[in-house]
Amino acid sequence: MSAPIAIIGTGIAGLSAAHALRNAGQNVQLFDKGHGSGGRMASKRSEAGVLDLGAQYFTARDRRFLDAVQKWRDEGWVADWDPDLYEYRDGRLSPSPDEQPRWVGTPRMSAITRALLQDLTATFCCRITEVYRGEEHWQLQDSEGKTHGPFSHVLIATPAPQAAALLASAPKLAAAAASIAMEPTWAVALGFREPLATPVQGCFVQEGPLSWLASNRSKPGRDGQMDTWVLHATSSWSRQHVDLPKEQVCETLRGTFAEMIGCAVPEPDFSLAHRWLYARPSEAHQIGALADGGLGIYACGDWCLSGRVEGAWLSGLEAARRLLEHL
Ligand code: FAD
Ligand code: NAI
Repeated sequence: MSAPIAIIGTGIAGLSAAHALRNAGQNVQLFDKGHGSGGRMASKRSEAGVLDLGAQYFTARDRRFLDAVQKWRDEGWVADWDPDLYEYRDGRLSPSPDEQPRWVGTPRMSAITRALLQDLTATFCCRITEVYRGEEHWQLQDSEGKTHGPFSHVLIATPAPQAAALLASAPKLAAAAASIAMEPTWAVALGFREPLATPVQGCFVQEGPLSWLASNRSKPGRDGQMDTWVLHATSSWSRQHVDLPKEQVCETLRGTFAEMIGCAVPEPDFSLAHRWLYARPSEAHQIGALADGGLGIYACGDWCLSGRVEGAWLSGLEAARRLLEHL
């Protein structure tokens, strides 16, 4: 039997590639530095309940992704989320309903990648630091100095700056990944024992430090002891305050939230801040995926396309397609 294909990253891009390759009869082995799958679609367990701190929902516009999402819905991994949407601009909160279907993992965002992992082989808490090629095969080295391999091909499904570092064996691909700028996002979660008296369930914020806020509990399948809210800062505020201590991030964004939300906001019973260093590419691209078919090394992720869940999934599919066409 030939050596398996290594996939670095168990976010939606890595798992999309893994499924496409496995469906084509290939043997894949996944690695992730995190404790579990999901990457930026991960959810965090907390005393206030499980919180979606990264991707809040996703939309599906490409037919292939729509088909996949329908399948996930039939399996019970996703449900549609139709929140009471608002917009905040010129110092005012106003309803902003629309017809856009939006999807969420259920009962938490991470349910999707957990389900996609199924019986795939994955090694967690394993940060890959080097990807190198011997005579015939690829090897991976992790941060503990352990070597993994041999592999026939390597597919890197991490954010662009992390991919650039792992693409050293393919300098052109490394340069392409290094040229993609990614922006940080500060996320804050708040929990209140007494539910807030607001009709808002999701809000696009057009001014100030916040870009988005949502009632986590308004999503299907969520329960928990508290009324939980997730706030996301804008890229520019997050960049300017990238090293601010977490307590100060919580305090500042909570203050902005309290001024905007249009109801009394008591001291939260729970709060946490999470910094996503590589939250989104600063612009959309049309790369699809990076490929060096001769060497057998590939890279994919949201940064190759739209910087959204759908873009990441499509990029994983494209990387798998490029690999398969070169076999
Ligand atoms: P990731 O999810 O980042 O997966 C990469 C994986 O690689 C991670 O699990 C990481 O641990 C692993 N990894 C990295 N380096 C290494 C290494 N050296 N060794 C081993 N493993 C490694 N999209 C939407 O469509 N809708 C939204 O509402 C939305 N909101 C968002 C809000 C926030 C705050 C953030 C951060 C993102 C949001 N997004 C949203 C974007 C969406 O989450 C991403 O586009 C998508 O999840 C990216 O998937 P990915 O597989 O490309 O990368
Ligand atoms: P979408 O179609 O719901 O939203 C796209 C954009 O359109 C929104 O950001 C908002 O500006 C505007 N919009 C949509 N509906 C609106 C309404 N009813 N009222 C007012 N404005 C509205 O979702 P899509 O295209 O799938 O985008 C994904 C979302 O993920 C976006 O909101 C994007 O900002 C967010 N995202 C956030 C990241 C972060 O790091 N914070 C990273 C990547 C995506």
